[in-house]
Amino acid sequence: MQPLILSGSANLPLAETIATNIGVRLGKRELCRFPDGELHVEIQENVRGRDVYLIQSTSPPADEHLLELLLLADACRRGDAGRLTAVIPYFGYARQDRRAQGREAVGGRLVADLIEAGGLQRLIVVDLHTPAVEGFFTVPMAHLTAVPFLADAIRPRLPAPAVIVAPDLGAVKLAGRYGTLLNLPVAIVHKTRLSGTEVTTSGITGEVHGRAPIVVDDMISTGGTIEAAVRALLAAGCSSPVTVVASHGLFVGPAVARLRGLPIQQLLVTDSVTTPELPLPIQLLSLCPLLVEAIARLHDNRSLTDLVARY
Ligand code: R5P
Repeated sequence: MQPLILSGSANLPLAETIATNIGVRLGKRELCRFPDGELHVEIQENVRGRDVYLIQSTSPPADEHLLELLLLADACRRGDAGRLTAVIPYFGYARQDRRAQGREAVGGRLVADLIEAGGLQRLIVVDLHTPAVEGFFTVPMAHLTAVPFLADAIRPRLPAPAVIVAPDLGAVKLAGRYGTLLNLPVAIVHKTRLSGTEVTTSGITGEVHGRAPIVVDDMISTGGTIEAAVRALLAAGCSSPVTVVASHGLFVGPAVARLRGLPIQQLLVTDSVTTPELPLPIQLLSLCPLLVEAIARLHDNRSLTDLVARY
């Protein structure tokens, strides 16, 4: 029997493409709100005994999309689904993986507990902010990576000489992966986060003068990290073109204004998050082939080893 593909409202175009490429139609479900604002979910398909894949990024508005995922999972579980897998192309709350200060919540851990409580038995995620988030879950997780595909996408237009740039220490391993795939040296911008939207830089490790930078990160949220890194690179005498590559493009708050103010020639992100048409030189790489392959293999109980993140 074919897998059943269901989706929340976070990323319907991606879910529809995935279903089409698997050769099924997207499962019917209804999402609505009661007059008091409560979310109500109903699956309008027989799920009994089915291998169900729930596609939903916890992208902005993160809490709404998370609750959709949880209620859809609950509806599937109560409908006696055979096996229930969450496909979360962008996993929000992953940045809340520890207490940076006292009396903070570790949101990532709590969200993991909620997902398991919702009855989801397996997860497919893509380029987590930190791979350690897998440890928050007790159910199996396939942590896939779009990095080889993103590297393939920029390879034909690689400037020379170029340098891969980690915009902060958290992105060093990721940058190393790009560096290996593209056979390029790596530089690191030293960033300090001042608030959710503001960052500052204090130096660069590595040779960037006269080199065209390819700044890589797991995500672009408010654009503060990229803006600070690019400004530091320009001040250090990097050459053009400036390329930015990220697995997840959220582009919230001041992101568009910040990025528009920079001489970025190429901005490559995946479609893990749906964004409206933006006045930026965005090149979109679809996660569809990767997710279709992962779902097909999981459905047949085949290995995903060559698709998972190793950085
Ligand atoms: C932080 O450690 C992440 O890897 C990203 O660099 C960061 O979350 C991006 O956020 P923003 O675009 O708001 O600076």
